[in-house]
This record gives sequence, structure tokens and C-alpha cells, in this order.
Amino acid sequence: MLDILRAEDAKLRQTAAPVRKVNREIRGLLTEMAETMYAAEGIGLAAPQVGISKRVVVADVGSGLVELVNPQILYREGAQLGYEGCLSIPDLVGEVERAQSIRVTGMDRHGHQIWMNCDGLLARCLQHEIDHLDGVLFTDLALVVVERDKISGQGKNEVVLD
Ligand code: NI
Repeated sequence: MLDILRAEDAKLRQTAAPVRKVNREIRGLLTEMAETMYAAEGIGLAAPQVGISKRVVVADVGSGLVELVNPQILYREGAQLGYEGCLSIPDLVGEVERAQSIRVTGMDRHGHQIWMNCDGLLARCLQHEIDHLDGVLFTDLALVVVERDKISGQGKNEVVLD
């Protein structure tokens, strides 16, 4: 289990460095990040959140583990408005507008370039995680930020923890 940094940590505001080569160290990081994300009951995690300033993210919104090294959003389409949270900002949730669909490229754990089309929750999650690589937190983008325990009813079910 890796420690998850909190929002006040300056490391979360750095621009993460691209990974030059997907080696054993990066594969180990991907594995540890996924374990940490599942243990924290999150749906996504970016390496800067565990104090590693590298462009590495993991996500699982219920349709399987996604691992991306040097992820890049090639295009965004449409818009979705919804609540999201962050394992680094556990007390707050915010309503954030994101693209509905994205096309992403990056490398997998074998260093192979892959391309993915995603929409809905996975698209939201990957936009949130890739923002972490540039030091951007959802609270920078949120139209409304509220305390997590103030959310009730239907809104609560829509809260995304990543
Ligand atoms: Ni986050």
C-alpha cells in the first residue's frame, strides 16, 4: 500500500515527467497503484497522488483495470456534468463539467502504444486522473464544491471517488 498525498501537499501541484521506458520499476508502480486504489475504494489514481512525479495513471470504474503510461487525450467530444471526488481531497465533492467522450492514447505495461475510446464515467475518471499529471485538482474546475457529508439522496449515489 502506498500513501496517498492530501491536497495541501505541493507534490500534487507539480507537472509530472513523461516516462522514458516502461521497465520493471514502472510495472511495479502500476501494480502498487492499482492495489492502493482498490484498497482505498477509489476508481482511479495518478502517480503524483502517491508522491511519484511520473505520467502514470490507473483506473477501474467497474469494467476492468485500465493502466496508462504517458496518457494523452487526442480528442474530446460532448459534455457531461456530474459530481466527483478525489482520494487526495476526501472531504469534498464538486460538480465538474467534463467531455462526454474522449479518445486517449498511451502505453500499456509492456510499453506498447494503445488507443482507447471511452465515454461516461471512464471518460470522466481519465480526464480527472490526467489532470493530476499537470497538477490540476477537481476543485480548480468545479462549478460547485460541497462537503461530502452534506450530499444526500440521489446526489450521493452519483459521487465519484477517484
Ligand atoms: Ni483525484
